[in-house]
Amino acid sequence: MKKKPMTNKLNIPRHVAIIMDGNGRWAEARNLERVEGHAEGARAVRETVETAARNGIEYLTLYAFSAANWARPRREVEALMRLLVDFAKKERSELRSLGIRVNVIGQLEELPTGTRHAVEDLIRYTADGSKMTLTLALSYGGRQDIVEAARALAVRARAGLVLPEEIDESFFHREMTTRSLPDVDLLIRTGGETRVSDFLLYESAYAELVFLPIMWPEFVPQTLLDAVELYSRRERRFGRTSAQVVRGEHAAFDPLDPVREAPAP
Ligand code: IPE
Ligand code: IPE
Ligand code: MG
Repeated sequence: MKKKPMTNKLNIPRHVAIIMDGNGRWAEARNLERVEGHAEGARAVRETVETAARNGIEYLTLYAFSAANWARPRREVEALMRLLVDFAKKERSELRSLGIRVNVIGQLEELPTGTRHAVEDLIRYTADGSKMTLTLALSYGGRQDIVEAARALAVRARAGLVLPEEIDESFFHREMTTRSLPDVDLLIRTGGETRVSDFLLYESAYAELVFLPIMWPEFVPQTLLDAVELYSRRERRFGRTSAQVVRGEHAAFDPLDPVREAPAP
């Protein structure tokens, strides 16, 4: 009998989100400029995206630039914006041929015009991809996304377009920039810090967290497969007891409830 690839036995997370941290320290440890760490990080991004798509992950969300990262030295911010343009231009054919659709969360309008146009072009160019959705978090802040949603609902309520009693979790989520994404199943952070740094606060409510000591440029395809394996061995209880999970009883909050399913891309 033909041997199946190892990943076939695994429970593949539908939505994987990654905090790609440690580029600067990786470079500094080698007496390189921090910017060179970011360039090396871009290589890890390429490999990770391809590995995720080839292994049946439907949604991959990458924290590329946080709302708080604007506080970094101008030179570093500009280099990151240039790398983003490079990525958008160089990778677009490959992404399209892999069936990957690119999406953005965060405040795209805050980016410099050239970067914004390159990203918008990438989104248009890959719009027909149906194998995996690659979401780039750009000028993204989790709290900001929640507050913006609350503000949008308040405006609609004042105009009489929405009743307060209509607002439930799925209704609220539709106002967020993550509206087309399902909840996060697996959240990975490289770089050794054990914090979430304002990433997907609402969407990671029941995510499994994996913190890795390696720096982002050291992340290779096998690292992703190892994290998926670790995820596969975890028991997600969603508030129930372990015995209930084993018996297959439903959770009060059912992550597979159809109303929480992301709309078709
Ligand atoms: C993550 O690496 C990349 C971005 C924030 C854009 P860092 O640049 O934060 O690397 P460290 O944490 O300083 O090593
Ligand atoms: C989080 O990393 C943001 C990205 C990876 C884009 P940071 O390096 O900005 O996070 P902190 O400052 O260590 O919390
Ligand atoms: Mg960092």
